Parts: sequence; structure tokens; C-alpha cells
Amino acid sequence: MARDHRDYYYWQAKKLGYRSRAAFKLLQMNRTFKLIRDGDWVLDLGASPGGWSQVAVELGAKVVAVDINPMKPIEGVTFVRGDITKEETLNEIRKIREKFDVVLSDASPKITGKWTIDHLLSIDLARAAFNVARQVLKEGGSFVVKIFQGEEIQNLFNEFKPFFRFKKFHSPKASRKSSAEIYFVGKGFKKP
Ligand SMILES: C[S@@+](CC[C@H](N)C(=O)[O-])C[C@H]1O[C@@H](n2cnc3c(N)ncnc32)[C@H](O)[C@@H]1O
Repeated sequence: MARDHRDYYYWQAKKLGYRSRAAFKLLQMNRTFKLIRDGDWVLDLGASPGGWSQVAVELGAKVVAVDINPMKPIEGVTFVRGDITKEETLNEIRKIREKFDVVLSDASPKITGKWTIDHLLSIDLARAAFNVARQVLKEGGSFVVKIFQGEEIQNLFNEFKPFFRFKKFHSPKASRKSSAEIYFVGKGFKKP
């Protein structure tokens, strides 16, 4: 029998008009780390169906959202349909805006159910997100990226570490207890 995923956050998202329960993860991380400020430019990678973009707009940000899959329009959000691992997607983003205050990535690979494969695929996506971030993030900017936990996580942390004044892994309350996901949060972007 399929598992019922309709938990507290699912119903809260329905009630408050968010497109995904993931919206609460960004709300919680923003409360903890003060990531998005009024007037910021936010790049939302792996954005569809748009919960994080909705939250960013509510916080007063101007948003560029990117996904391989389509996304229904949101006022205040410019959508780019593209693969974040492709150079052409970075070029499309730059046509809209050269520099961002915040780069977010909630991008997830297609889940195979095999822990190690899913972990390694998510590491590749996180590296792709960081490759975009390091080219468009303003000095002092913030970066958040989802990773499925596994043995490569410390290596990834060591790669990201020199680029941020503040850095840590964080698991928001709205992440499912059973989930392998964790978020890298980096603040104070700097070129090492
Ligand atoms: C968990 S969903 C994001 C949910 C979103 N944060 C929200 O609040 O609605 C992950 C998304 O990552 C996207 N994705 C996966 N690989 C991608 C890639 N290489 N480039 C762009 N988007 C990708 C998927 O299409 C999917 O829409």
C-alpha cells in the first residue's frame, strides 16, 4: 500500500495556499538564519511547483526561478525552464539578472530508492547549484542547498567551506523524520 504523505505540513500548505509543504522548510530556515530581506534578488533553483518562490515573494524578494519541469506563473517571479547542470541555463539566468543576494536550491534528483545512488545524484546536483551560485552570488550573499546525506557529505562541506563566513548543515523541522535530506546553509559569500 502506498504511504500517506498528507501530514500536518501538507494540510497547512493547502490551508495557506502554498504549492508545496516544502514552503515551510524555507520559512523555518529563514526564521533561523535570516536569509531573505525585503528587496533582495533571489535565485530559486529546482523551484517547481513553486512553494519556495511563493515564500521569497512574500518576504519582499524579486525572484528568478529555474526548473527542468514547468511551473505555473507567480506574480513577482520570472521563470526559466532549464537544467541547472547546463551552461545554457546559467546564460539564461544572467540575461535576466547578473547578481543575486540569495541563491537557493531545493533541487532533487529522481529518487531511485537506493540510498547511495540517490545520495551521489544529489551531491552532483548540489555541486551544479554551487557552480551557478559562485558565478552569480553577490559578495556577502547567502546560499542554501539540499543534499541527501551519505558518505560524500563531508567532502562537499569542505569544498563549500572556504567560500562562506558562516556555514553549517541544518535540518528544518518541516523535513520528514524519515528523510535523508539536509540543507547546507552558507552566509557571507566570499571568493577564497
Ligand atoms: C522538491 S522539488 C522543489 C520544491 C520547491 N522548493 C517548492 O517549494 O515547491 C525539486 C525540483 O528539482 C527539480 N530538478 C531536479 N533536477 C533538476 C535540474 N538538473 N535542473 C533544474 N531543476 C531540477 C525537479 O524538477 C523538481 O521540481
